[in-house]
Amino acid sequence: MNLGIEGDRILVIGASEGIGYETALALSHEGARVAIASRSAKSIEAAAKRITRATGHAVEPLVVDVMDEAATEALIVAWDNQPLDGLVLATGGSHRAPFTELTDAKWMENYTFNVLGPVRLLRGLLPALKKGRDARVLFFGGAGAKMLHPQQVVSNVHKAGILALAKTLADELAPEGVRVNAICPGRTWTKLWRDRAADFNAKEGLTEEEVVKRFAADIPLKRFAQPDEIAAVATFMMSRQASYLVGQAINVDGGMAKGLL
Ligand SMILES: NC(=O)c1ccc[n+]([C@@H]2O[C@H](COP(=O)([O-])OP(=O)(O)OC[C@H]3O[C@@H](n4cnc5c(N)ncnc54)[C@H](OP(=O)(O)O)[C@@H]3O)[C@@H](O)[C@H]2O)c1
Repeated sequence: MNLGIEGDRILVIGASEGIGYETALALSHEGARVAIASRSAKSIEAAAKRITRATGHAVEPLVVDVMDEAATEALIVAWDNQPLDGLVLATGGSHRAPFTELTDAKWMENYTFNVLGPVRLLRGLLPALKKGRDARVLFFGGAGAKMLHPQQVVSNVHKAGILALAKTLADELAPEGVRVNAICPGRTWTKLWRDRAADFNAKEGLTEEEVVKRFAADIPLKRFAQPDEIAAVATFMMSRQASYLVGQAINVDGGMAKGLL
């Protein structure tokens, strides 16, 4: 299938590793002109070089910390309203803790990481997207937006918020030529889970293998996703083949979320 994105300018935020990186790699393989961003100049430059080596296409590395309003504004100013065909907002994460242990600061930190950071970027880059061809935006929710993960109230709330945001903006922006959707990954083996496994090791003495076994038990496929399995669907959603997809939140979770919608 020809995804029809050759030459499209697509910016992926949170892309030095994990799902964002694999999405940028797949988009570049399809011939898109990709820019990638994360906090660390060293990691993002290395990631850009790895992608270029693999695909033969130039990739522009950018530095941004989505938790930092000034840094976000600096990226938007540096973009300078160049036409943008696609924006993938792949930062976000969860904080595993019981409700009683979550301070205001923790709530606000998780909110900025999952919701406000991406909102600021989209708002600032919207004029550039409006100049793009069939412009599309992809937010990252999570399976926890549709089935609630115990001990993860803070990200359950914010990932559900992402779906409301994507649906609302889809309605508002589609008439202006910008298609907005969200993807909801299930448990995916990235740094997020490597760090969590290390936490379980410190607290309960579990090995990485035992953590994976415990958390794969309620996934019908009985395994975690690899980041490229999420990226494949994200890349399709960012393609011209998905030209009539608007306001959807698509689960890629091995069948974990059991709701009908
Ligand atoms: N992995 C899962 O099981 C899972 C499940 C459901 C939903 N998701 C969602 O999928 C998305 C991607 O997750 P992932 O597992 O691929 O994440 P990840 O492996 O932790 O990757 C995070 C990426 O984002 C960058 N990053 C981290 N903090 C940043 C910040 N403040 N500003 C800018 N960039 C930042 C990192 O690079 P630097 O360190 O260089 O900044 C890295 O490139 C997230 O929205 C996550 O919530 C993941």
